[in-house]
Amino acid sequence: MKLNIAVLPGDGIGPEVVEQALNATIAVCEKYNHELNYKHALVGACAIDETGNPYPDSTHELCMQSDAVLFGAIGAPKYDNDPSAKVRPEQGLLAMRKNLGLFANIRPVTTFPSLVHKSPLRANLIEGADFMCIRELTGGLYFGRPQGRSEDGNTAYDTCVYSRYEIERIVRLAFEYAMKRRKKLTIVDKANILATSRLWREVSKEIAKDFPEVETEYLFVDNAAMRMIQWPKSFDVIVTENMFGDILTDEGSVITGSMGLLPSASIGAHTSVFEPIHGSYPQAAGKNIANPLATILSAAMMLEYAFDLKEEAGLIRKAVAASMDIGVVTEDIAGDGMKPSSTTEVGQWIVNYIKKN
Ligand code: IPM
Ligand code: MN
Repeated sequence: MKLNIAVLPGDGIGPEVVEQALNATIAVCEKYNHELNYKHALVGACAIDETGNPYPDSTHELCMQSDAVLFGAIGAPKYDNDPSAKVRPEQGLLAMRKNLGLFANIRPVTTFPSLVHKSPLRANLIEGADFMCIRELTGGLYFGRPQGRSEDGNTAYDTCVYSRYEIERIVRLAFEYAMKRRKKLTIVDKANILATSRLWREVSKEIAKDFPEVETEYLFVDNAAMRMIQWPKSFDVIVTENMFGDILTDEGSVITGSMGLLPSASIGAHTSVFEPIHGSYPQAAGKNIANPLATILSAAMMLEYAFDLKEEAGLIRKAVAASMDIGVVTEDIAGDGMKPSSTTEVGQWIVNYIKKN
């Protein structure tokens, strides 16, 4: 099979973790005789520095021509501390999501037996937890207009907007995922307060009629946040709007023991994007300490979702699990008294495992 992928490392630790994920992808493709072609492009703060635009046209064209995009992270402190910055790295990510029509962000939350001790939650609560958050990605507060300030600067506003079709396509997708899993769907909203949430609930109830086999429940987001850490095993598929999904998936990463472990897939109208859910972690950039596993697992999702290469994806996941079992892990998940491995050591161990197994 021929795989044409765009590689967008971005900022901070992005380049370091993406390099390891790319190496794992190359190793799997060599092993299974797939032809892998990849091209790098700029996105985020590094793209602003070079071109003034956080998502340059040339990057967009490359994404459109590729079968899948492997993405690192974006963001740089110099922009976070400058409220007057006219252009921000995050706009590059939003532009990419909008221009590629990536309306669904799929974030699986699974626990790894060898890491259960790393979670701040009790082992019996999280052992075996396995759910999937489906986050709407191109609507809501992230994109609603108007957004801005009053003339005197003392009032600011954002707008949350959702149209029926935007809700329909994501909720339908969530039901389809639930059908392929344990047939339970939790729809998270704030329908007691927000008009957009009431439309979500109305549309979801209509769609639910097409999936009578799926057990459907509706939770307010505050309650869902509580239940996620009290009883994570009660979830199978969760679907929610953009901002709620952003917040709940960070919370979900706590269950696995580290932000550095959760991969994601963003799918929609054009090329799909595969990226870790963590950010650019600038404090760790260049130190060779960042956990590459979330990005390596994102590469596994890429093989499965974009190319239907399930066995190849499975081998990457097996390699990741084996690296944790044997304790070749970065400092964020290393046990007490264990010597942590570097980003490149973990990546190299995984490549070797792929070659040998
Ligand atoms: C994420 C990130 C982004 C988001 C930021 C970097 C804009 O937190 O992918 O979850 O808020 O969507
Ligand atoms: Mn986030």
